[in-house]
Amino acid sequence: MLVVANQKGGVGKTTTAINLGTALAAIGEPTLVIDIDPQGNASTGLGLDRQDRTITTYEVLTGQAVLADAIVPTRIPGLSLVPATVDLSGAELELAEMPRRNFILKDALENYSVHGASAGAGATNQKSGNHFSYVLIDCPPSLTLLTLNAMAAADAVLVPLQCEFFALEGLSQLMKTIELVRAKLNPGLEMQGIVLTMFDKRNKLSDQVADDVRATLGEKVYATVIPRNVRISEAPSHGVPALVYDLRCPGSQAYIKLAGELIQRERTRVAA
Ligand SMILES: Nc1ncnc2c1ncn2[C@@H]1O[C@H](COP(=O)(O)OP(=O)(O)O)[C@@H](O)[C@H]1O
Ligand SMILES: [Mg+2]
Repeated sequence: MLVVANQKGGVGKTTTAINLGTALAAIGEPTLVIDIDPQGNASTGLGLDRQDRTITTYEVLTGQAVLADAIVPTRIPGLSLVPATVDLSGAELELAEMPRRNFILKDALENYSVHGASAGAGATNQKSGNHFSYVLIDCPPSLTLLTLNAMAAADAVLVPLQCEFFALEGLSQLMKTIELVRAKLNPGLEMQGIVLTMFDKRNKLSDQVADDVRATLGEKVYATVIPRNVRISEAPSHGVPALVYDLRCPGSQAYIKLAGELIQRERTRVAA
């Protein structure tokens, strides 16, 4: 279970959750995307209209529904979604009142695993989330209670990092938060990796930022770099992942490569 996090908005979290999820599903790894951003961009980008989001992350976090009832299939075989709506912005206040406020999502996922296992629903997963190989949690651009819930529940953090000047500064703040979560909420939380996004090969700064990030974080940075590609930004308005909108475009191809690299990395990480 991975949380896709970066407190900066517009760095490619949602795009990564959608397209990495699609690529993993296409490779044959059943994947669940959990949208915990009140903006609901992952839900929109996966083609689920607002009126069809009846049971959402909000109902799950406020105890009005169990996770199993919130999971819907997407048009992509093997890819499921727990959608979000703007209702979720209200959940933050409601959660703040609860004694286990940081662990609501974790509890929901654990209950789901129990249900799944007792129902014999193809429990092939080594981690939580039973019949899904991967669970990707798409976070809001903040380090508030919703993101903390995701970090408390997850095994590791996947960080999309936009190749721009302040990238490293933002990253050090995120690292501090991860340290804090390890100390207080989830000692096992790992840094899964950093994905450089919106890389522009005509821009010298992109290269320089990529070099700096690799020099600082070494192996944690994925070899695969996601290029800036207009086809990626067009896809959400059609309600499909870029991989469905234009499989051959460089952005889609990069996400397929990333999925391959991630599967390799997860095998070693989980075995370690
Ligand atoms: N590689 C890319 N090339 C071009 N546009 C991109 C790329 N990745 C993301 N975008 C666009 O940038 C905007 C922000 O991306 P998004 O994934 O929504 O970021 P976040 O979830 O971190 O806020 C969106 O309009 C998205 O379509
Ligand atoms: Mg987003």
